[in-house]
Amino acid sequence: MNNFNFHNPTRIIFGKGTIAELSKYIPKKAKILLTYGGGSIKSNGVYDQVIKALKKREVLEFGGIEVNPDYDTLMKAVKLVRKKKVDFLLAVGGGSVIDGTKFIAVAAPYSGKKPWNLLAKNKARDLKTALPLGTILTLPATGSEMNRNSVISRRSTEEKFAFASELLYPAFSILDPETTFSLPPKQVRNGLVDAFIHVMEQYVTYPVGATLQDRQAEAILQTLIEISPKAMQIPPNYDARASFMWAATNALNHLIGAGVPTDWATHAIGHELTAFYGLSHAESLAVVMPYMLWYKRDKKAAKLAGYAQRVWKLREKNPQDMISLAIEKTAAFFLSLGMPTTLTAYSIDPEEAAQRIQERFTIRGTVLGEHADILPEDVAAILRMSR
Ligand code: NZQ
Ligand code: ZN
Repeated sequence: MNNFNFHNPTRIIFGKGTIAELSKYIPKKAKILLTYGGGSIKSNGVYDQVIKALKKREVLEFGGIEVNPDYDTLMKAVKLVRKKKVDFLLAVGGGSVIDGTKFIAVAAPYSGKKPWNLLAKNKARDLKTALPLGTILTLPATGSEMNRNSVISRRSTEEKFAFASELLYPAFSILDPETTFSLPPKQVRNGLVDAFIHVMEQYVTYPVGATLQDRQAEAILQTLIEISPKAMQIPPNYDARASFMWAATNALNHLIGAGVPTDWATHAIGHELTAFYGLSHAESLAVVMPYMLWYKRDKKAAKLAGYAQRVWKLREKNPQDMISLAIEKTAAFFLSLGMPTTLTAYSIDPEEAAQRIQERFTIRGTVLGEHADILPEDVAAILRMSR
């Protein structure tokens, strides 16, 4: 097992009716900025629950954070935070609202001239201060409610960057599975696929003798496979949604990634597909991951074999056949949720996507994968398979 240093300070308050406890976790005299997205929290009653829980508190609001939160929108919130001297941020929504709020938390006190460099030039690494934030999660998917990551888009330049800092861990996150009851099936599907792929990125690399992390990763994958039909059901099933929510948080709260090599190449390519073609985050991953696994199957063979045996219970005599079948089953799982697995399903020309992304990665000097051996031309080859 590799050495690691793990510290996750986020308190999780989980279950039905827990939004009512919100006030306890926000400092008494805080001036709060409640951030949210396009309005789902107003139509499903979550907003009303939050306002009720915060009565007698000083609360300002900033709504309209879009899916794939945009830098220019967030800079408006940064201005408001500075002007009104907000000192606590409360994000209510999915990964986009939480990530956007994490950016506001670091950009508001940042004295540098170009907050975009926090992402594009990785300056977030040197940050010493951020505003504290709490979250109320309404969409299980990203793990942002319990991790140190944030992903921000900039539509004006067709860019999308991830950044990370220890300062970005939320102080607390409230996870009430009933808040997910209003999710459209497409968002449930997206969440299941995103969480599944988060585990794959940290698990299907190469063995380092980290047995516990491997078994935990397999447990999350098996849980997602097992509960997905029920999690997709309408009317919603509470226990399936609860397991989905907790599995998605555990898929990316850095626990299963501690002490093991991680990949993240599918995510890096997916972010470019979202930036150039507007695919949702999970859609962008599902058109890359199966081909990534085919392309890197030799170097990933040991972990793919374990994945085949333990997650899919395959017992083929020939290891190559077993690995092929496991990759097919992965794609079939996505398809069973109604998630397409090819670029052509979105009328995107794989050749064009391959060329655009290869060019961008060449300019940036991007190399990907747990062995840092996926070069821009390999990325192009993988994208060409997505037909
Ligand atoms: O904006 P509103 O009106 O709230 O509607 C949202 C949005 O349209 C809706 N929604 C959320 N909760 C709902 C609901 N609709 C009805 N009922 C509810 N309870 O769902 C839509 C999608 O929301 P969004 O927050 O964009 O989805 P998701 O949670 O998948 O977040 C995607 C973003 O997170 C980033 C992605 O790149 C993307 O920008 N990621 C963040 C990560 C992290 N911080 O660690 C890791 C991930 O790999 C990912 O990159
Ligand atoms: Zn993801």
